Amino acid sequence: MSTRLANRRILLGVTGGIAAYKSAELIRRLRDHGAEVRVVMTPAACEFITPLTLQALSGNPVHLDLLDPAAEAGMGHIELARWADAVLVAPASADFMARLAQGMADDLLTTLCLATAARIALAPAMNQGMWADPATAANVATLRERGIHLFGPAAGAQACGDIGPGRMLEPDQLVTETAALFQSRLLDGVRVTITAGPTREALDPVRYLSNHSSGKMGFALAAAAADAGAITTLIAGPVTLCTPERVQRIDVESAQQMYDAAMQQLASTDIFIAAAAVADYRPAQVAGQKIKKQSETLTIELVRNPDIVASVAAARPRPFTVGFAAETDALLDHARDKLERKRLDMLIANDVSVPGIGFNSDDNAVTVLWAQGELALAQCSKRQLATELVALVARHYRLQLA
Ligand code: C5P
Repeated sequence: MSTRLANRRILLGVTGGIAAYKSAELIRRLRDHGAEVRVVMTPAACEFITPLTLQALSGNPVHLDLLDPAAEAGMGHIELARWADAVLVAPASADFMARLAQGMADDLLTTLCLATAARIALAPAMNQGMWADPATAANVATLRERGIHLFGPAAGAQACGDIGPGRMLEPDQLVTETAALFQSRLLDGVRVTITAGPTREALDPVRYLSNHSSGKMGFALAAAAADAGAITTLIAGPVTLCTPERVQRIDVESAQQMYDAAMQQLASTDIFIAAAAVADYRPAQVAGQKIKKQSETLTIELVRNPDIVASVAAARPRPFTVGFAAETDALLDHARDKLERKRLDMLIANDVSVPGIGFNSDDNAVTVLWAQGELALAQCSKRQLATELVALVARHYRLQLA
């Protein structure tokens, strides 16, 4: 089973066609592969299959109307457009494709397709005569030109009795094609090492100092790097996340162990990304026995931990080095200062004072800085953001080699 779909947010559009009965099965298959699915149906789709069925299978309310105040008060059309990592319209009717090709926004699904920055894929399903019609062919060409993916259609027996092209692909085929949407060759064969998660600094055999880092951003970056073809190593502090497919994982606890692992990887690393929230200090002494409650106050002396990313950037030869900066104020000033002070090639800055992004949340929004420029990436899932970040890092890495 491919894990390319794990935690991916798939917005499934269902339009009016008899193949809509297969959308129910498609939702199950997508969820079996770990995807989160939200469904948008056109009015015509509701004539073929009920929203209740798709709601039960997707585990989420089905979105039907553009101008429904109640729905807009929850997850509105722009939020849905931002939420999606990919929009898959299956079945995509001839009418829907015509409206999309025209850039119309006369219902929720076409509006979403216009608004979203996510990849869009269509699984056409229609009578073979409608598929063969020059109007449909012209629409298909326009949509392809705009970067919209087309899955199928297959040829064969049709519900109307005709035989020919126009059948929607089977759910399993659509799952395979959707997973492939997340594959790129941007980092083929490039060796990427990523640190992720918190570190634990032992005080005694049962206690430690740590922080709230979930490791989600670093793990998402590792998944995205592997998807881009990189030979990916993830140096992970203590987190409860599954190792992404095709990623080699080295588990560590303390900052010192993370530093040692990073140094060991150095000779076989082309790109180093430091996403870990490393403890800056550790207790000067680790008590051999559990520290007892004795006095009213307890003073613990802390000593500085090595700065892993700065040490990597100071090595010669050095990999292309990328750091993170979590700040609560004067984000860009502090970030640019960190970029220079640690001699990094790129720095990914996120404002952890904004609720819903950063530490422990599923979403993030960042600004990426490098010596000659910067780029703000809008709020989206960490998975989607990781894909964009990997693409950006890959571009700058290649520029540096050139
Ligand atoms: O200095 P500050 O902790 O804000 O810098 C954050 C960046 O430095 C992150 O990329 C983090 O992974 C890295 N870092 C590190 N080793 C440390 C402290 C931070 O690699 N000891």
